[in-house]
Amino acid sequence: MLEVENITVRYDTATVLDEASLRVEKGELVGLVGPNGAGKSTLLRAIAGLIKWEKEVLKGTRQADITFEGRIEFDGERIEQLPASEIARRGLILCPERGRPFAEMTVKDNLLAGAYLCKDRNEVGSNLDNVYKLFPRLKERQNQISGTLSGGERQMLCIGRSLMHQPKFLLVDEPSSGLAPKLKEDLFRRVEEIYQELGVTILLAEQDVSFAFDLSARNYVMSRGHIIAHGTAQELLGDETIRKTYLGL
Ligand SMILES: Nc1ncnc2c1ncn2[C@@H]1O[C@H](COP(=O)(O)OP(=O)(O)O)[C@@H](O)[C@H]1O
Ligand SMILES: [Mg+2]
Repeated sequence: MLEVENITVRYDTATVLDEASLRVEKGELVGLVGPNGAGKSTLLRAIAGLIKWEKEVLKGTRQADITFEGRIEFDGERIEQLPASEIARRGLILCPERGRPFAEMTVKDNLLAGAYLCKDRNEVGSNLDNVYKLFPRLKERQNQISGTLSGGERQMLCIGRSLMHQPKFLLVDEPSSGLAPKLKEDLFRRVEEIYQELGVTILLAEQDVSFAFDLSARNYVMSRGHIIAHGTAQELLGDETIRKTYLGL
């Protein structure tokens, strides 16, 4: 369903991604693990079309020297040259790392803003119901100003907002980041539900290796802009070099 081939991203002379390749089949949940700074977020942003967008926005400024190369296929079609909005329209949605809601808007309005690509009001209403079913907490707090949410609630809102697009494929960036164990566990179940019950294919970037490994069938390991290994949790943990050097376990 998603095939990423030789993605290279450079900011000036700093190579952040060096010919990174991966593939995800329809119906899979695949983990992308690696330490802070490995390039996970950059890879997800590149897939979602945001590096290209950044390059265009910065055109003509001092920070303009961004390289973006490689080939990305989604649902059988090339997407690396498409605008981010068109990529989202095709159902490939990024839930960004520590995604910030519009702080001064209510929870409900943030969710509705997430559905900006959908013109059918009934559909928007049923998507909203589905998000509230998955996250009853968001329903309870639907009229609360989003800037006053806790970290865990904000993370739920970020995922909920991505679901308002009715994604076929979700790129989820560090959902567990900064959460207390109890909340992490709860979010883990929600991601599992999105994958198993809503049938959304997922590429999950995580620094928390066990969070990813407990959910995924396969994983890619990243270090300094390279995909250095690929396999099931068992295979990766069975390799002492990978386990110690790259997974820090
Ligand atoms: N806009 C940018 N300009 C310059 N360097 C960047 C930019 N975005 C990310 N980087 C660098 O790319 C590297 C990888 O970052 P990132 O993709 O956020 O890694 P991860 O998500 O694995 O922690 C880091 O060294 C980071 O400083
Ligand atoms: Mg990151």
